[in-house]
Amino acid sequence: MKNYIKHDEWKIVEEGFHPEHNRITESLLSIGNGRSGQRANFEEKYSGDSLQGTYIAGVYYPDKTRVGWWKNGYPEYFAKILNAANWIGINVMVKGEELDLAKCKILSFYRELDMKSGLLSRSVVVQMKRGKQVEINSKRFLSLARQDVGAICYSLKALNFSGKVSLEPFIDGDVINEDSNYDEKFWIEKEKAARGNEGFVCMQTKKTGFLVCTAMSNRFRMNRQETENQPVTSIREKYIALKSEFKLNEGDEICLEKYVVNISSLYYSKNKLTEISENSLKQVVAKGFDQLFAEHQSMWTNRWETSDIRIEGDVAAQQGIRFNIFHLNQTYLGDDERLNIGPKGFTGEKYGGVTYWDTEAYCLPFYLGTSDEKVARHLLLYRFKHLHKAIENARKLGFNNGAALFPMVTINGEECHNEWEITFEEIHRNGAIAYAIYNYINYTGDQEYLAPYGFQVLLGISRFWSQRVTWSEEQQKFVILGVTGPNEYENNVNNNFHTNYMAVWTLKYTLEAIDYLKKEFPFLYEELVQKLKFNELKETSRWKEIIEKIYFPYDEKRGVYLQQDGFLDKELIPASELSTDERPINQNWSWDRILRSCYIKQADVLQSLYWFEDQFDKETLARHFDFYEPLTVHESSLSSCIHAILASSLGLLDKAYEFYLRTARLDLDDYNNDTEDGLHITSMGGTWMAFVKGFGGLRAKNGQLVLNPFIPESWKSYSFRINFRGAHLEIRMGKKDLTIINHTEISVSLVIWGKPQQLNALQTITIKNSRL
Ligand code: BGC
Repeated sequence: MKNYIKHDEWKIVEEGFHPEHNRITESLLSIGNGRSGQRANFEEKYSGDSLQGTYIAGVYYPDKTRVGWWKNGYPEYFAKILNAANWIGINVMVKGEELDLAKCKILSFYRELDMKSGLLSRSVVVQMKRGKQVEINSKRFLSLARQDVGAICYSLKALNFSGKVSLEPFIDGDVINEDSNYDEKFWIEKEKAARGNEGFVCMQTKKTGFLVCTAMSNRFRMNRQETENQPVTSIREKYIALKSEFKLNEGDEICLEKYVVNISSLYYSKNKLTEISENSLKQVVAKGFDQLFAEHQSMWTNRWETSDIRIEGDVAAQQGIRFNIFHLNQTYLGDDERLNIGPKGFTGEKYGGVTYWDTEAYCLPFYLGTSDEKVARHLLLYRFKHLHKAIENARKLGFNNGAALFPMVTINGEECHNEWEITFEEIHRNGAIAYAIYNYINYTGDQEYLAPYGFQVLLGISRFWSQRVTWSEEQQKFVILGVTGPNEYENNVNNNFHTNYMAVWTLKYTLEAIDYLKKEFPFLYEELVQKLKFNELKETSRWKEIIEKIYFPYDEKRGVYLQQDGFLDKELIPASELSTDERPINQNWSWDRILRSCYIKQADVLQSLYWFEDQFDKETLARHFDFYEPLTVHESSLSSCIHAILASSLGLLDKAYEFYLRTARLDLDDYNNDTEDGLHITSMGGTWMAFVKGFGGLRAKNGQLVLNPFIPESWKSYSFRINFRGAHLEIRMGKKDLTIINHTEISVSLVIWGKPQQLNALQTITIKNSRL
């Protein structure tokens, strides 16, 4: 655990430079706007340890698979949102000496990310080798208001010398991905040009053919006055730089405003990119830095208006939740159903920026609760549009009749995960995709989604389950063999409880969907039956048989469902007995030792118990929690959030708080020693759930919002906001009272601590804290 980030309610602050943690800070202070993202790399040269990272949404490269031993059915490639042109770069020369922070004496250093306004800034004083002292101040943002636009305001002050200083803003497309499988470069140059203070580099991805034009326009001010400059152009492959030289007297400050646009062929026609870049830059420059920033800031104000969570009395917890909300809001805006949420968003290379089950299982609730309904719908449509590929994927693996297996990892619908245990075995993901449809409909009431979209996905998944089960003569039960559950510290197990549960749940839910469609959309249903060649009687009778005769591993003595067959053969030693130098075990133990151990990477049985809590009584939930919690090492970021929610529902308030802090501050404190690779963006959705579903006890049931809030001991109060079926509510929980404010004209039915309550248009109600 690291502890160098200052606690602050709205800011992420590094005071004093920590080069040994530079990659971590670069991840933490990343900025983004849904269309692109940028790690907090320095603008000027830095020869110390750093991971340069600029990522453009939807622009990917299929990196050829690299495995030790090829197995049939492997995907040919791993798709990655690749590192794109460095648009932030500025070379700085001070009296002939290059400014490189790794080679200077740092006299003072401060960098911060202001989450309220999405602004990254830095203030540094350094002494260069030959004694010259300079002060650097920089600010930058990626505009939420104009999603192709980024802007930097970079100033340099001569503190103890007079002489020539040059600033050379550049665009460098000659970038690499550290995780490239064959050290290949993924871009080729298409075009570049420079004129006056403007220049652009237009590049194309190999194989996938995406074009991105990155263009800059630069303006200078000397001591705040606009100043003339005569840039000298340097050009090499994929690179363009415009150098301007200035004579500074001691105390003078030269400031560069660098305006940039990243125009991608995902949004504009390929032959117009340079023209669009030029026009867009013109508008941006005319606006100027301050105005652009004001627009951007006002968008952030709007986002916070609907999604902020406030905590009184605990700065670490407050910073944690805002950090999570901030990054979710800058990763996915939900305006384009072709985009999704990578586990690291735009903050690093790991996981390739592509889509996992994380989206459905951990992120959907955040967007449902804080954004317009269409945002969550877009996440669902993303999968709907990939249905034909999921059917093709299943066909390749030997399934038929329209059975669909959605990929574990994808960007375009094709599977691209390169480990066999996960590619072939981690099929519970199909269940998460089905569950997301239920979750969306249950929350929004948009049952009609089933007719054109949802049912087809459910049918494909149900067909898959009905073929993936095996009839065991021995047990006279259906079993599911050879799977990996959410706990990836077990592979190729039989009858993973979670997978079996998801399979039968999907079958049941699809049967309900059929009843609904037959009643409400009989003609459309008939059309679907024809189109999908659905033999309702035959197929559903098999589903019903599976539902009736599915096998779940169960231990009578303990009264718990077992994670998989044979789980009790393991030595059950609580994780608390592991020494600290063995943790995390995935960085200290051999893989075979992990597989043989009882340790659980992330919520597995508890994942389904969380989703289907209504199907179990409290004692059963508690028994399972008590059994599995001590064996769980939470080495996936997706684990603590589920444990926090269960602990909250079970009234284990201290545990709930402990898990909450762990998920909320996972990256800020670098719990799992891996924040340098990028932030755990999808787990941030889990953090939001841990708060709202855990502390707030919020559920949507039968068209009503259910609340069972409690307040952690050390807090004075907290509040969160929630969208529900057109209404926007603010929930304020204090030590003594709960207040709910309806900010809209739409009335809402609630159940608060078990009692029904109507909240009319614009009404505020206050209720005594019944947990006192
Ligand atoms: C987890 C998976 C998750 C993936 C991406 C893995 O460590 O075990 O459940 O989908 O990370 O976040």
